Amino acid sequence: MTEKEFIPSPYTKSVLSGKTTYKSPSNIALVKYWGKKENQIPANPSISFTLNECATVTTVTYERLNEPSNSFFFDVALDGKVEENFKPKISTFFERVYQYLPFLKEYQFKIETSNSFPHSSGIASSASGMSALALCLMEIERNLNPEMTQDYFNQKASFLARLGSGSAARSIKGSLVQWGVHAKIEGSSNLYGVEYPHKVHSVFQNYCDTILLVDKGQKQVSSTVGHDLMHGHPFAEQRFHQAHENLLKLETVLAEGDLNGFISIVESEALTLHAMMMTSQPYFILMKPNTLEIINKIWAFREDSKTHVCFTLDAGANVHVLYPEDEKAQVQEFIEDELAVYCQNGQFIHDFVGNGAQKIN
Ligand code: PMV
Repeated sequence: MTEKEFIPSPYTKSVLSGKTTYKSPSNIALVKYWGKKENQIPANPSISFTLNECATVTTVTYERLNEPSNSFFFDVALDGKVEENFKPKISTFFERVYQYLPFLKEYQFKIETSNSFPHSSGIASSASGMSALALCLMEIERNLNPEMTQDYFNQKASFLARLGSGSAARSIKGSLVQWGVHAKIEGSSNLYGVEYPHKVHSVFQNYCDTILLVDKGQKQVSSTVGHDLMHGHPFAEQRFHQAHENLLKLETVLAEGDLNGFISIVESEALTLHAMMMTSQPYFILMKPNTLEIINKIWAFREDSKTHVCFTLDAGANVHVLYPEDEKAQVQEFIEDELAVYCQNGQFIHDFVGNGAQKIN
């Protein structure tokens, strides 16, 4: 598929008004996306587990304007409260996707959204938020062009979500989603995420992820700024090359259920992501003291308990604790007894691998 193929053919149906709701999950990258080219094209391929509990529910209500406009008409509400702060981000998104969704200037929209986790906490609320919005917009387009296939629907939803937030491309369909071209992953694309096409051992099909909310405040440096700092970064090329290699190594690890191999790739990816931040110009640190306390506790516990618990990080201070389902009782007890103290207000979210977005209405 090329970008042009996402420009729709003239709409065949006329729709005056409607309402659609989607629930879309967050995801946690195992091999990280950090650095991008123009038009949200990733500098390297990435892969993520789709989450189940951390999700955004978005409802879009739409009503046709008397005549097409030159601008976009929409209101946004978060948890029932009008959010003027969200408007610029959505306006930019609408600008970017307008050529692929020409109906955007023919309707006025009410976008109502709610998250199951704190906004801007580093739990990739942009991934679930942008994918939920993209899915609602695709549902509107499907009403206008009902002959589209489900595969096209999913691909275009991921394509649009990517234009809102890169990692959102991985939140549409599948439990393990790969985004970005990789020589050994057939069907992989820089334009949208695909369900991981290779063998995945059963141990990874219901993996657990407990998100420790170390710092729920607004991040000091946004992902957009962070991605940008990979331009001219002294270690950029090596890092992009490493991501390709890690994806290759992960193929065997995922197929064989090699938990130790998994731990070593995933933890290294997390630390590399943050190392890129610490070595960019200007440099910055998103981890907090408690992030490091938690990492050290996890390493000590893993050694003592002989479990396969490991950690990964997003672009923030929060820690994702990953472990197999059959070690859940032991690891969750450890989290409650020893890690909760490092979380803001003792808060954490038990999550696990899910299957992707769902249409609610
Ligand atoms: O989707 P963005 O632009 O917010 O970038 C997020 C990048 C990371 O979460 C740090 C890594 C990833 O692959 O999700």
